[in-house]
Amino acid sequence: MKLTASAGLHGSITVPGDKSISHRAVMLGALADGDTHISGFLMGEDCLSTIDCFRKMGVPIDCSAKEVVVHGVGLHGLREPEGQLYTGNSGTTTRLISGILAAQPFPVTLTGDASIEKRPMGRIITPLRKMGADIDGRDGKFCPLSIRPAALHGITYEMPVASAQLKSAILLAGLYADGPTAVIEPAPSRDHTERMLRALGAAVESDGCKVTIHAPDALRACDIEVPGDISSAAFFLVAGAIVPDSELTIRNVGMNPTRDGVVEVLRAMGADLAVSNVRDSAEPVADLTIRSSKLHGTEISGGMIPRLIDELPVLAVAAAFAEGETVIRDARELKVKESNRIAAMAAELNRAGADCTETEDGMMLRGGKPLHGAAFESYNDHRVAMSMAVLALAAAGESEILNPEVVSISYPGFFDALRAIGGSIWY
Ligand code: S3P
Repeated sequence: MKLTASAGLHGSITVPGDKSISHRAVMLGALADGDTHISGFLMGEDCLSTIDCFRKMGVPIDCSAKEVVVHGVGLHGLREPEGQLYTGNSGTTTRLISGILAAQPFPVTLTGDASIEKRPMGRIITPLRKMGADIDGRDGKFCPLSIRPAALHGITYEMPVASAQLKSAILLAGLYADGPTAVIEPAPSRDHTERMLRALGAAVESDGCKVTIHAPDALRACDIEVPGDISSAAFFLVAGAIVPDSELTIRNVGMNPTRDGVVEVLRAMGADLAVSNVRDSAEPVADLTIRSSKLHGTEISGGMIPRLIDELPVLAVAAAFAEGETVIRDARELKVKESNRIAAMAAELNRAGADCTETEDGMMLRGGKPLHGAAFESYNDHRVAMSMAVLALAAAGESEILNPEVVSISYPGFFDALRAIGGSIWY
């Protein structure tokens, strides 16, 4: 995939459905009584891994261009799969499904790809064991995970990291616990699981950083509209801001307040970014319009980090084009994503001529240096590949993205979408 500096980007686009919401719609739809019709489902590889795991446990799932229909089997209707369940590259599938599997009356082994085998699973093993789960991992903390039948009881668990995957694994196990299950987070992470559980009739209380679930007798299926993924929209927001003479509107973007930090930070950096047509159903949604902007550096830290954790790679690209210094702190979690995103982004930004230093929990960027194209590594990480593609559209000269097909984890068609708005891209 080759790219060069582009003249202005223009257009009105939509991005594929939210990845986090798509996963949860399949999982909770599978456990509900009745059919769940999901529109806007993300047909990315990660979400297909979730569909595959539930089909292997006997859940009929129909996919068409219009919608995905999950024929729920109820809380106690999953069947033992033949062989292992494979979660591919998907941390969300692996961690959330573990919470469900911990309560099933059959044993399962969960495996994933080389990246999944390196990602920390001790964080879910510890609380699930406290609930009574019989779960173990390679070296006690990695995939493959072996999960055997056990009776679960409710706990109150203080989470060591703000992680929606961890929170959701515990809440999903809590669907089967004897007594209420509560989690306390160091800072609020995305709350899609809580919202969807409530929509399906479960009693879930949120009080600041504490969430409590009371095990329901059943979940009632309801239709789910998945909004556009703000994490995918972020690539276009940054591209629109840094490529001169651009104006882009991204319609129907999920604006859940636990996810919209990228909008706040880009505005703090001076971006000309308008939010319009705000509407609210199960999840808030809006249209976003970005125009080329003169950006300046900022600090991104503290409780803001969970609100934009997946957007930090592309925000680092924005910071490289901004005047002055940007500091990202409290983002140690970036080291244990699909790749070590601190190391990966620092290396690739510097390859383009940026001045970026890795720190223990983030990075420091002195922006505004002239950037040039290069052959960029993607580290088998979809968000690194897309971030460097955005950089390439505003850097001098030609660039290449190595292993570009990795974008299909969360955004099949990403390069075509970028080309359609004026990105200079060819194979
Ligand atoms: C996700 C939570 C976040 C995020 C990931 C999706 C989710 O991970 O980075 O892409 O759907 O719950 P953590 O829970 O590890 O922070």
